[in-house]
Amino acid sequence: MDFIDVVKRRRSVRKYDLTRPVSDELIARILGAARLAPSAVNFQPSSFIIVRDADVKAGLKDVYPREWFYTAPVIIAGCVDTSVSWKRPLDKKDQAEVDLAIAFTHLLLAATNEGLGTCWIANFNNEKARVLFQLPENIQIVAMTPLGFPAEEPSEKPRKELKELFRKDRW
Ligand SMILES: Cc1cc2nc3c(=O)[nH]c(=O)nc-3n(C[C@H](O)[C@H](O)[C@H](O)COP(=O)(O)O)c2cc1C
Repeated sequence: MDFIDVVKRRRSVRKYDLTRPVSDELIARILGAARLAPSAVNFQPSSFIIVRDADVKAGLKDVYPREWFYTAPVIIAGCVDTSVSWKRPLDKKDQAEVDLAIAFTHLLLAATNEGLGTCWIANFNNEKARVLFQLPENIQIVAMTPLGFPAEEPSEKPRKELKELFRKDRW
């Protein structure tokens, strides 16, 4: 698929085909796209927890209580190591979430290219997720997504007009 077709095809999918498994090879391919994402000073603070285990999925029910999420064939949690991420010297602004967002977008678009569905999830219970995944102090979850073959074809959501997206030379 052409890049722009992948971008146009991506949708937030909230219904998955539970009869179609997702192979490790497919997951390796989409992680390969995340791996190539740029990161501040190339510090590469991002990593991903790939959930297939039934017990962990059962635990995810309390983390984000949507059946389409915790029953999906795979769930991926996008993590950053804040002991590694670059902090802008002038104001100490941590770029970790930016780095993860870029890598996660690569991952979502690569999944679309493979015919897989995803849905960026931010509205999860962070404390419960930390306990479930047994995260050390320096690891933060920025986003999660279910991953599987779509069992729905969501329509295109409205977007601002192009002219609303930019200004010329000054605000
Ligand atoms: C940062 C971010 C957080 C989001 N969090 C959630 C979420 O917690 N639950 C959910 O169902 N969708 C979530 N979404 C998906 C958005 O609702 C979706 O991207 C938007 O409505 C546009 O639809 P589309 O992705 O199909 O183009 C999130 C998307 C982004 C980028």
